This record gives sequence, structure tokens and C-alpha cells, in this order.
Amino acid sequence: MNKQNTIVVAVDGPSASGKSTVSRRTAAAVGWIYVDSGALYRGVTWKCLKEGIDVKDAQAVTNLLIKMNFQLTCNGEAVGYLIDGEDPGMEIRGEAVRAHVADIAAQQPVRVFIVDKLRQMTKFGNLVMEGRDIGTVVFPDSPFKYYLDADPAERARRRHAELAQREGNSDVTKVLDALKARDQKDSNRATSPLQIALGAKIINSTGMTIEQVVDTIVGDLKAAGLA
Ligand code: DC
Repeated sequence: MNKQNTIVVAVDGPSASGKSTVSRRTAAAVGWIYVDSGALYRGVTWKCLKEGIDVKDAQAVTNLLIKMNFQLTCNGEAVGYLIDGEDPGMEIRGEAVRAHVADIAAQQPVRVFIVDKLRQMTKFGNLVMEGRDIGTVVFPDSPFKYYLDADPAERARRRHAELAQREGNSDVTKVLDALKARDQKDSNRATSPLQIALGAKIINSTGMTIEQVVDTIVGDLKAAGLA
């Protein structure tokens, strides 16, 4: 499929709004490729930490972007990447990366670098891409833009359950506080803040099942004759 005909479903929203699960399942339902754009910001953060670079030192971070080899990969179901030949794997989900990624995502050169990588992904085929600025900045012309939200308490409950499963211990009050702090940072940063894209369909998933949200998006694709 050539670049012109490629379709991107853009799914934006705050953390723990259900974007990942919904986007992954939507992609699987229609046989398109899933993209977790946050994983790229996490990858750059991981590389900085690995190289001992201060994530707040914009010049050092920019030098790293110029120097490193960031290669996209695709297994037919999802897009991944290698940084200087290495796959960071689950390390990008750890506490160290989590604590610093918002500082990395706030830097304009990082965003320019990653937006370019995200746009290149259309070479792999039709995409379901989740993030914070996919409908506003990366693919603003997409006819399929969604803003997924859920009440903060519900998002904290979901994230808490996820962390408890992965890391064994988690405190729901701390999770809610961290979530609100990250929302605040993501929504108020000067560069590409989290916003509802023009023409995006807003879905508040608080009282909805994952299947209902997926069905809403797949239904739109079916109505357009794409699924
Ligand atoms: O979705 P996530 O939690 O993996 O995102 C990690 C960080 O990257 C978070 O601080 C928001 C930021 N991000 C962004 O600024 N733009 C995106 N398109 C995706 C993520």
C-alpha cells in the first residue's frame, strides 16, 4: 500500500484512559498495525538514562538524538524499534523511565524527531496509533480521530490494578496523585499539550466495557467500508 492510501486511526487521551487496550484490540479486529507512540518517548528516555545523560539537559538530549540510530521494525501486528541495535523491552515500563519521560516528551527537538518517526510508519500499512498528539499534530488530517477519557478515579483504579499485577505492590492514592501530576504536565506543557483534536470523537469510557469502545471505532471503520 502506498503512503497516500494509508489510513491512520488516531487515539489520544490521558494516561490510563484505556487507549492501549482499545487501540491494540481495534488493530487486531481489523487487521491493522498497532502503534504505541508513548513507547518511543520512553525509548529516548531509556537511552538517556543508559548513557548517563541528564534528561533536563536539552542540548545533551539533542546531541543524543543526532548520534543514535533509531530504527523502526514491524512484525505485521505492531511497530517496534531498535536503538543502536538494542530493544529496550520492558525496561521502558520501569520506574526510572516512568519518572523522567514527561521531561523528555516536553522537549521540542525530541518531539520533532519522534513525530517524523511516527509519520514514517505509514510505510508499514494502515495503523491504529495511540498517544497524546496523534490527532492534533502527527496525523491531523485523519478522518478517524478519537479522544478517549475516563474519570480520574476510574483511571487510577485501572492503573493501580495494572501495576499491582506487574510489580506486586501499588498504592491507589499514590497512583491517583501521580496520574494527576502527569496529566497536569502533559496538558500544560508548551509543546504539543494534550488537547482534543478538531473533529475528534470524544469517548468517556468510565461506564463502558473495552468491547463497547472497540465496537464504536470498528463500527466507524465499517461504516466507511474499511473493515
Ligand atoms: O502513553 P505513555 O504513558 O507511554 O506516554 C509516556 C509519556 O510520553 C507521557 O508523559 C506522555 C508522553 N507522550 C507524548 O507526549 N506524546 C505522545 N504521542 C505519546 C506519549
